[in-house]
Parts: sequence; structure tokens; C-alpha cells
Amino acid sequence: MTSPVETIQSVQLNEQEDELILLDQTLLPNKKAYLHLSTIKEIWDAIYHLKVRGAPAIGIAAAYGIYLETKKSKAVTFPELYDDFQKNKQYLASSRPTAVNLFWALNRMEECLQKVAEKSITEIKNALKEEAEKIRIEDEIVCRSIGEHALTLLKPGFGILTHCNAGTIATAKYGTALAPVYLGKEKGYDFKVFADETRPLLQGARLTAWELQEAGVDVTLICDNMASLVMKEGKVQAVLVGCDRVAANGDTANKIGTSGLAILAKYYRVPFYVCAPLSTVDIECETGDDIPIEIRNPEEITKAWYEKPMAPENVKAYNPAFDVTDHELITGIVTEKGIAYPPYRDSLLNLVTKER
Ligand code: MRU
Repeated sequence: MTSPVETIQSVQLNEQEDELILLDQTLLPNKKAYLHLSTIKEIWDAIYHLKVRGAPAIGIAAAYGIYLETKKSKAVTFPELYDDFQKNKQYLASSRPTAVNLFWALNRMEECLQKVAEKSITEIKNALKEEAEKIRIEDEIVCRSIGEHALTLLKPGFGILTHCNAGTIATAKYGTALAPVYLGKEKGYDFKVFADETRPLLQGARLTAWELQEAGVDVTLICDNMASLVMKEGKVQAVLVGCDRVAANGDTANKIGTSGLAILAKYYRVPFYVCAPLSTVDIECETGDDIPIEIRNPEEITKAWYEKPMAPENVKAYNPAFDVTDHELITGIVTEKGIAYPPYRDSLLNLVTKER
């Protein structure tokens, strides 16, 4: 068995060809194919259409994307280069609104650009490449560390319920919510993972079930509406989810359906943990009400995956891609610097400042 953790890098830079190589996540599990993208428009489309997805992976793709596009710039002075950079930054930032890692990575690239403003254009472009590489390499270290902290919350044999895909392909390596599952596997913890199918785009069925099965983890696929029964049957000892943005008060945006799971977990007294790199914590967002929620094409509900449409022609469909879980429902937020517990306003701020 070849674990995707060891064999797949979902976002890579091919410096020789000036291209971004992305695992096309829309084709999984049926086909493992890589896209070779060289224009910013192609990279924007790949993010928008979820060919690359998962908050950290989106951030890494955007960092490489802005480097590749800046490299093409014909600017001869810093202000000209900065103008080009800004246009490209705004364009990439318009691809998806909820995952803050996209903006975090683009802002980090801009800070890097400003720091080397006095250098030659060639040196500035090289600095951007190094920064994008750093973002990817750091994400791998961060995810491993999240996995180590999260593992301290789990016992061998635990049933773990997860939603969407917060696995290795959503990050540089390991994933966030799935990192402790992979690290537990190395230690023989024998977890039993329940993967929510995750309507409407089936990230749980197509991606989580696939990557865990490939890695030899005991994984059982369930439809989203089965989570309550599985918890009632006592099969779940912890819920682990990733996230796209955490507000200063601990409210957390993640894939649509996450907040319902948190409500169920509270009812059945199952601990509910959010796994989040600190790059996903947005201290500028006071509460979840400030987090923009992406609304996607209703055809993802009515037509995608079906041979024939499975809803009446022209029926109204509402397709928010994320929801916000109230901080009161979250047992702990696991970051690379440790686990934040309520009250989150203090504990998150402590961890964020510890990082700087
Ligand atoms: O719309 P998606 O598939 O990009 O949504 C992804 C999620 O909701 C993940 O749980 C989140 O980004 C965490 S990825 C480590």
C-alpha cells in the first residue's frame, strides 16, 4: 500500500518550465492526474473550480502563482513591478472568499516584496520564489506539529468522525484534521475513521475516503445524514475537522455541514476538535459574523454527479459552501503551537503572538 502522504505532493513548482503542477482533485478517486499551469488565469480557474482546494493548499498555490506571474513582468523599476504584483494579487484574491490562507499567503508574499524593494529586479523575483517555497515547506512542518498535538487528545482504537477533506492533499503534507490519523497509524493506534460524504462536492467520499484507504487506515464512508446515528451508536469518540477561517472569538468557518456536526457532538457528548494552522486564525475577524461565506453555483446540488438532473428543472437551490461553528460548540482548537481552549479570545491571541 502506498500512502498518499509519502507519494503525493498536491502543489509543486516546476521552476525549469515556469509552471505550477497541481494534483487535479476534481478527478479523484478515479484518476490521479496532474495539471501543468503557466498562466495566472489557469491558476485562478484551478482554485475557483476546486482543482486545488483545502485552505493551506490554496494558499501555497496562490503564493507560487503570484511568483510565477511576477517573474514574467517586464517592469524595470520597483514601482512598476509593485503595480504588476498588486494587480495579480487582487486577481488571485478574488478566486475564493472564505479560506483566509489565500489572503494570508498573498499578504506574506507582498511583505516579502516590500522587504527587498531596494534590491535588483532579478533579486526581488528570486526572493519571491524563496518565500513561496518557504510557505510550502513550513506548512508541512506545521501540519506535522498539529498532528502531534492532536494525537495527545486521542486514544488507540478511537472512532473518529471527520467532514470534508482536511488531509494530505489539502496541505503540503499530512493534512490538519487527518494529520493525527496518519501519525497514529505510524504508532499502531488503530483508529476507525468515519468519513462524511460531504455534499454537494463529495470531498469526504472522493478525497478523504480515498486517501485514507490508500494509506491503509480503517475508513468507513457515511452519508452526511448518518452522523447522528453513528454518534448515538457510540462509534465516535472524537470529531476532528479542519477549517478555513477562525475568528478571534473561536467561531470557525469550515465546509458546509460542520456546524450541524458540532451540534450533534455536543448532544452526544463527543469532543469536537478543530485543527487549524495559525495561518487560518484571523484575529481581524471579531466573530464568525465577519467571515465571508462563499455561495456557489446551485447546479453543484441539482446536477453534479448525476447522469440526469435529480431535481426539477429551474428549482431554486441554495448552495453556501461553508458554515460557521459557534465557539461554544468547540472543545478545543489544535494549532501547531499548542491547543487553544475556551475562552478562545485569550488562548488564540496567546498562540498567535507566541508565533511572531
Ligand atoms: O471547498 P473546499 O473543499 O476547499 O473546503 C475545504 C474545507 O472545508 C477543509 O475542511 C479546510 O479547508 C481545511 S483543509 C486542511
